[in-house]
Amino acid sequence: MEASILFFRACLALLALPIYLLSFLGIWQPFCKKVFFPFFLEHFSAIHEKKAKKQKQELFRNLPDFRSPSGELKLLEIGTGCGANFQFYPPGCKVTCTDINPNFQQGLLRSMNKNQHVHYERFLVAAGEDLHQVPSGSVDVVVGTLVLCSVHDVNGTLKEALRVLRPGGAFYFLEHVVADRSSWKYFWQQICYPTWKLVFDGCCLTREIWKNLEQANFSELNLHHLSIALPWTPIQPHIVGLDPRPSPHALSQPVPFSLTERADTNPSHLTSAQPKVLY
Ligand SMILES: C[S@@+](CC[C@H](N)C(=O)[O-])C[C@H]1O[C@@H](n2cnc3c(N)ncnc32)[C@H](O)[C@@H]1O
Repeated sequence: MEASILFFRACLALLALPIYLLSFLGIWQPFCKKVFFPFFLEHFSAIHEKKAKKQKQELFRNLPDFRSPSGELKLLEIGTGCGANFQFYPPGCKVTCTDINPNFQQGLLRSMNKNQHVHYERFLVAAGEDLHQVPSGSVDVVVGTLVLCSVHDVNGTLKEALRVLRPGGAFYFLEHVVADRSSWKYFWQQICYPTWKLVFDGCCLTREIWKNLEQANFSELNLHHLSIALPWTPIQPHIVGLDPRPSPHALSQPVPFSLTERADTNPSHLTSAQPKVLY
Protein backbone atom coordinates (compact mmCIF):
# COMPACT_ATOMS: atom_id res chain seq x y z
CA MET A 1 0.00 0.00 0.00
CA GLU A 2 2.73 2.45 1.11
CA ALA A 3 4.87 1.69 -1.96
CA SER A 4 1.97 2.03 -4.36
CA ILE A 5 0.98 5.36 -2.79
CA LEU A 6 4.53 6.62 -3.21
CA PHE A 7 4.62 5.41 -6.80
CA PHE A 8 1.38 7.12 -7.79
CA ARG A 9 2.37 10.26 -5.86
CA ALA A 10 5.54 10.43 -7.91
CA CYS A 11 3.54 9.95 -11.14
CA LEU A 12 1.23 12.82 -10.18
CA ALA A 13 4.17 15.00 -9.21
CA LEU A 14 5.71 14.27 -12.61
CA LEU A 15 2.53 15.43 -14.32
CA ALA A 16 2.62 18.58 -12.20
CA LEU A 17 6.36 19.07 -12.68
CA PRO A 18 6.05 22.59 -14.17
CA ILE A 19 4.18 23.69 -11.03
CA TYR A 20 6.82 22.14 -8.78
CA LEU A 21 9.51 23.96 -10.78
CA LEU A 22 7.65 27.29 -10.54
CA SER A 23 7.27 26.67 -6.82
CA PHE A 24 11.00 25.98 -6.49
CA LEU A 25 11.68 29.29 -8.24
CA GLY A 26 9.28 31.10 -5.88
CA ILE A 27 6.89 32.00 -8.72
CA TRP A 28 3.98 29.60 -8.14
CA GLN A 29 2.76 30.73 -4.70
CA PRO A 30 2.26 34.43 -5.59
CA PHE A 31 0.75 33.48 -8.98
CA CYS A 32 -1.53 30.96 -7.30
CA LYS A 33 -2.77 33.45 -4.68
CA LYS A 34 -3.27 36.34 -7.12
CA VAL A 35 -4.45 34.71 -10.33
CA PHE A 36 -4.98 30.96 -10.36
CA PHE A 37 -6.79 30.33 -7.07
CA PRO A 38 -9.27 33.25 -7.29
CA PHE A 39 -10.11 32.15 -10.87
CA PHE A 40 -10.35 28.49 -9.88
CA LEU A 41 -12.38 29.15 -6.73
CA GLU A 42 -15.06 31.15 -8.50
CA HIS A 43 -15.61 28.33 -10.97
CA PHE A 44 -15.30 25.56 -8.39
CA SER A 45 -17.76 27.36 -6.08
CA ALA A 46 -20.39 27.24 -8.81
CA ILE A 47 -19.98 23.44 -9.06
CA HIS A 48 -19.79 22.88 -5.31
CA GLU A 49 -22.86 25.06 -4.84
CA LYS A 50 -24.92 22.89 -7.20
CA LYS A 51 -23.87 19.73 -5.37
CA ALA A 52 -24.15 21.06 -1.82
CA LYS A 53 -27.02 23.52 -2.19
CA LYS A 54 -29.58 21.40 -0.36
CA GLN A 55 -27.23 20.72 2.56
CA LYS A 56 -26.32 24.40 2.80
CA GLN A 57 -29.97 25.44 2.70
CA GLU A 58 -30.72 23.07 5.56
CA LEU A 59 -27.65 24.12 7.49
CA PHE A 60 -28.29 27.84 7.28
CA ARG A 61 -32.10 27.68 7.55
CA ASN A 62 -32.06 28.37 11.26
CA LEU A 63 -29.56 31.21 11.24
CA PRO A 64 -32.26 33.69 12.34
CA ASP A 65 -32.62 31.73 15.62
CA PHE A 66 -29.28 33.21 16.65
CA ARG A 67 -30.35 36.85 16.33
CA SER A 68 -29.31 38.89 19.34
CA PRO A 69 -32.05 40.21 21.67
CA SER A 70 -31.97 43.48 19.67
CA GLY A 71 -33.09 41.50 16.59
CA GLU A 72 -29.82 41.95 14.73
CA LEU A 73 -27.87 39.04 13.25
CA LYS A 74 -24.15 39.81 13.13
CA LEU A 75 -22.31 37.14 11.16
CA LEU A 76 -18.58 36.77 10.59
CA GLU A 77 -17.30 34.49 7.86
CA ILE A 78 -13.80 33.00 8.02
CA GLY A 79 -12.17 32.53 4.61
CA THR A 80 -15.00 34.12 2.64
CA GLY A 81 -13.29 33.57 -0.73
CA CYS A 82 -15.74 34.62 -3.47
CA GLY A 83 -18.74 34.76 -1.15
CA ALA A 84 -20.34 31.43 -2.02
CA ASN A 85 -22.52 31.51 1.13
CA PHE A 86 -24.07 34.99 0.84
CA GLN A 87 -27.18 33.62 -0.86
CA PHE A 88 -28.00 31.52 2.23
CA TYR A 89 -27.88 34.40 4.72
CA PRO A 90 -31.18 35.93 5.85
CA PRO A 91 -32.21 39.44 4.71
CA GLY A 92 -30.62 42.23 6.72
CA CYS A 93 -27.94 39.96 8.15
CA LYS A 94 -24.83 42.04 8.92
CA VAL A 95 -21.84 40.26 7.45
CA THR A 96 -18.16 40.72 8.21
CA CYS A 97 -16.05 38.98 5.57
CA THR A 98 -12.53 37.85 6.43
CA ASP A 99 -9.90 36.13 4.33
CA ILE A 100 -6.15 35.81 4.45
CA ASN A 101 -6.01 36.37 0.67
CA PRO A 102 -7.14 39.82 -0.55
CA ASN A 103 -7.35 38.81 -4.21
CA PHE A 104 -10.97 37.71 -4.47
CA GLN A 105 -12.44 41.18 -5.18
CA GLN A 106 -13.92 40.34 -8.58
CA GLY A 107 -15.71 37.20 -7.48
CA LEU A 108 -16.79 38.84 -4.25
CA LEU A 109 -18.25 41.85 -6.06
CA ARG A 110 -20.21 39.58 -8.40
CA SER A 111 -21.58 37.65 -5.42
CA MET A 112 -22.44 40.84 -3.51
CA ASN A 113 -24.30 42.25 -6.51
CA LYS A 114 -26.31 39.05 -6.74
CA ASN A 115 -27.09 39.06 -3.00
CA GLN A 116 -28.19 42.54 -2.09
CA HIS A 117 -30.45 41.29 0.69
CA VAL A 118 -27.37 41.07 2.92
CA HIS A 119 -25.75 44.03 4.64
CA TYR A 120 -21.97 43.90 4.07
CA GLU A 121 -20.35 45.56 7.05
CA ARG A 122 -16.60 44.96 6.80
CA PHE A 123 -13.96 43.16 4.79
CA LEU A 124 -10.91 42.21 6.81
CA VAL A 125 -7.75 40.71 5.41
CA ALA A 126 -7.10 38.46 8.37
CA ALA A 127 -6.14 34.91 9.19
CA GLY A 128 -8.76 32.86 11.00
CA GLU A 129 -6.14 32.21 13.66
CA ASP A 130 -5.85 35.93 14.46
CA LEU A 131 -9.03 38.00 14.31
CA HIS A 132 -7.73 40.66 16.68
CA GLN A 133 -9.63 43.40 14.79
CA VAL A 134 -12.87 41.78 15.97
CA PRO A 135 -13.84 42.38 19.63
CA SER A 136 -14.54 39.38 21.85
CA GLY A 137 -18.20 38.32 22.13
CA SER A 138 -19.23 40.72 19.35
CA VAL A 139 -20.83 38.44 16.75
CA ASP A 140 -23.87 36.15 16.80
CA VAL A 141 -22.67 33.61 14.26
CA VAL A 142 -19.32 32.56 12.77
CA VAL A 143 -19.35 30.64 9.47
CA GLY A 144 -16.51 28.62 7.96
CA THR A 145 -16.99 26.55 4.80
CA LEU A 146 -14.13 24.69 3.09
CA VAL A 147 -11.65 26.72 5.10
CA LEU A 148 -10.44 24.57 8.01
CA CYS A 149 -8.70 22.41 5.39
CA SER A 150 -6.47 25.37 4.53
CA VAL A 151 -5.78 27.24 7.76
CA HIS A 152 -2.38 26.65 9.38
CA ASP A 153 -3.84 26.01 12.81
CA VAL A 154 -7.33 24.48 13.04
CA ASN A 155 -7.49 24.63 16.87
CA GLY A 156 -6.27 28.25 16.87
CA THR A 157 -8.96 29.18 14.34
CA LEU A 158 -11.69 27.50 16.40
CA LYS A 159 -10.40 29.30 19.50
CA GLU A 160 -10.72 32.63 17.70
CA ALA A 161 -14.22 31.71 16.50
CA LEU A 162 -15.18 31.00 20.11
CA ARG A 163 -13.66 34.25 21.29
CA VAL A 164 -15.51 36.51 18.85
CA LEU A 165 -18.85 34.73 19.34
CA ARG A 166 -21.21 36.08 21.94
CA PRO A 167 -22.39 33.56 24.58
CA GLY A 168 -25.24 31.65 22.96
CA GLY A 169 -23.94 32.33 19.42
CA ALA A 170 -22.98 29.51 17.06
CA PHE A 171 -20.25 28.32 14.70
CA TYR A 172 -21.57 26.89 11.41
CA PHE A 173 -19.33 24.67 9.30
CA LEU A 174 -19.18 22.62 6.11
CA GLU A 175 -15.76 21.07 5.48
CA HIS A 176 -14.23 18.34 3.39
CA VAL A 177 -12.36 15.80 5.48
CA VAL A 178 -10.23 12.68 5.27
CA ALA A 179 -12.04 9.57 4.04
CA ASP A 180 -12.50 6.32 5.91
CA ARG A 181 -9.08 4.62 6.12
CA SER A 182 -10.33 1.38 4.56
CA SER A 183 -11.75 3.09 1.47
CA TRP A 184 -10.40 3.74 -2.01
CA LYS A 185 -11.23 7.39 -1.43
CA TYR A 186 -8.59 7.43 1.34
CA PHE A 187 -6.06 5.78 -1.00
CA TRP A 188 -6.84 8.40 -3.66
CA GLN A 189 -6.49 11.21 -1.06
CA GLN A 190 -3.09 9.86 0.02
CA ILE A 191 -1.92 9.90 -3.60
CA CYS A 192 -3.17 13.40 -4.35
CA TYR A 193 -2.26 14.98 -0.99
CA PRO A 194 1.13 16.70 -1.69
CA THR A 195 0.38 17.88 -5.23
CA TRP A 196 -3.15 18.96 -4.29
CA LYS A 197 -1.79 21.03 -1.40
CA LEU A 198 0.68 22.76 -3.70
CA VAL A 199 -1.77 23.44 -6.52
CA PHE A 200 -4.74 24.49 -4.39
CA ASP A 201 -3.13 27.03 -2.10
CA GLY A 202 -2.42 24.84 0.94
CA CYS A 203 -5.63 22.77 0.96
CA CYS A 204 -5.07 19.60 3.06
CA LEU A 205 -7.00 16.49 2.08
CA THR A 206 -6.25 14.45 5.17
CA ARG A 207 -7.58 16.44 8.12
CA GLU A 208 -9.86 14.84 10.71
CA ILE A 209 -11.54 18.16 11.37
CA TRP A 210 -14.39 16.61 13.37
CA LYS A 211 -11.84 15.75 16.07
CA ASN A 212 -10.81 19.41 16.39
CA LEU A 213 -14.48 20.38 16.62
CA GLU A 214 -15.14 17.73 19.27
CA GLN A 215 -12.26 19.05 21.36
CA ALA A 216 -13.16 22.74 20.97
CA ASN A 217 -14.97 24.29 23.86
CA PHE A 218 -18.42 24.72 22.30
CA SER A 219 -21.47 23.46 24.13
CA GLU A 220 -23.29 20.93 21.97
CA LEU A 221 -21.70 19.81 18.73
CA ASN A 222 -24.23 18.91 16.06
CA LEU A 223 -22.18 17.25 13.32
CA HIS A 224 -23.00 15.00 10.39
CA HIS A 225 -20.70 13.16 8.02
CA LEU A 226 -21.88 13.12 4.41
CA SER A 227 -20.59 12.67 0.92
CA ILE A 228 -20.93 15.43 -1.65
CA ALA A 229 -21.05 14.06 -5.18
CA LEU A 230 -17.89 15.48 -6.72
CA PRO A 231 -16.83 12.48 -8.83
CA TRP A 232 -13.11 11.89 -9.42
CA THR A 233 -12.13 14.49 -6.86
CA PRO A 234 -10.58 13.51 -3.51
CA ILE A 235 -12.86 15.90 -1.61
CA GLN A 236 -16.11 13.97 -1.47
CA PRO A 237 -16.25 13.18 2.28
CA HIS A 238 -17.58 16.20 4.15
CA ILE A 239 -18.77 17.18 7.59
CA VAL A 240 -21.55 19.67 8.15
CA GLY A 241 -23.16 21.11 11.23
CA LEU A 242 -23.11 23.74 13.89
CA ASP A 243 -21.65 24.20 17.28
CA PRO A 244 -23.32 26.56 19.73
CA ARG A 245 -21.37 28.50 22.33
CA PRO A 246 -22.70 27.98 25.84
CA SER A 247 -25.24 30.57 26.86
CA PRO A 248 -25.17 31.60 30.54
CA HIS A 249 -28.94 32.21 30.45
CA ALA A 250 -30.23 29.07 28.72
CA LEU A 251 -30.66 25.86 30.70
CA SER A 252 -30.36 23.86 27.51
CA GLN A 253 -29.08 25.19 24.24
CA PRO A 254 -31.32 24.86 21.17
CA VAL A 255 -29.60 22.87 18.43
CA PRO A 256 -31.75 23.66 15.43
CA PHE A 257 -29.92 21.78 12.68
CA SER A 258 -31.00 18.38 11.51
CA LEU A 259 -29.90 17.06 8.15
CA THR A 260 -32.70 14.97 6.77
CA GLU A 261 -31.13 13.78 3.56
CA ARG A 262 -27.77 12.31 2.79
CA ALA A 263 -26.33 12.27 -0.71
CA ASP A 264 -24.83 8.81 -0.62
CA THR A 265 -26.89 6.60 1.65
CA ASN A 266 -30.15 6.07 3.43
CA PRO A 267 -31.57 9.42 4.64
CA SER A 268 -32.75 7.83 7.88
CA HIS A 269 -29.09 7.71 9.01
CA LEU A 270 -29.14 11.41 9.60
CA THR A 271 -31.74 12.73 11.94
CA SER A 272 -31.27 14.54 15.19
CA ALA A 273 -32.48 11.42 17.03
CA GLN A 274 -29.15 9.78 16.15
CA PRO A 275 -25.96 10.25 18.16
CA LYS A 276 -24.44 13.63 17.55
CA VAL A 277 -21.35 12.41 15.70
CA LEU A 278 -22.04 10.02 12.88
CA TYR A 279 -19.99 8.40 10.22
C1 LIG B 1 -11.53 26.60 -0.64
S1 LIG B 1 -11.65 28.28 -0.27
C2 LIG B 1 -13.30 28.38 0.39
C3 LIG B 1 -13.91 29.74 0.23
C4 LIG B 1 -15.35 29.87 0.73
N1 LIG B 1 -15.42 29.74 2.16
C5 LIG B 1 -16.24 28.87 0.06
O1 LIG B 1 -16.88 28.05 0.76
O2 LIG B 1 -16.34 28.88 -1.18
C6 LIG B 1 -10.64 28.49 1.18
C7 LIG B 1 -10.57 29.93 1.60
O3 LIG B 1 -9.91 30.01 2.86
C8 LIG B 1 -8.98 31.08 2.81
N2 LIG B 1 -7.95 30.84 3.82
C9 LIG B 1 -6.89 30.01 3.76
N3 LIG B 1 -6.19 30.06 4.90
C10 LIG B 1 -6.83 30.92 5.71
C11 LIG B 1 -6.60 31.40 7.02
N4 LIG B 1 -5.56 30.97 7.75
N5 LIG B 1 -7.46 32.29 7.54
C12 LIG B 1 -8.52 32.73 6.82
N6 LIG B 1 -8.79 32.32 5.58
C13 LIG B 1 -7.96 31.43 5.03
C14 LIG B 1 -8.48 31.08 1.38
O4 LIG B 1 -7.88 32.30 1.02
C15 LIG B 1 -9.77 30.80 0.63
O5 LIG B 1 -10.49 31.96 0.38
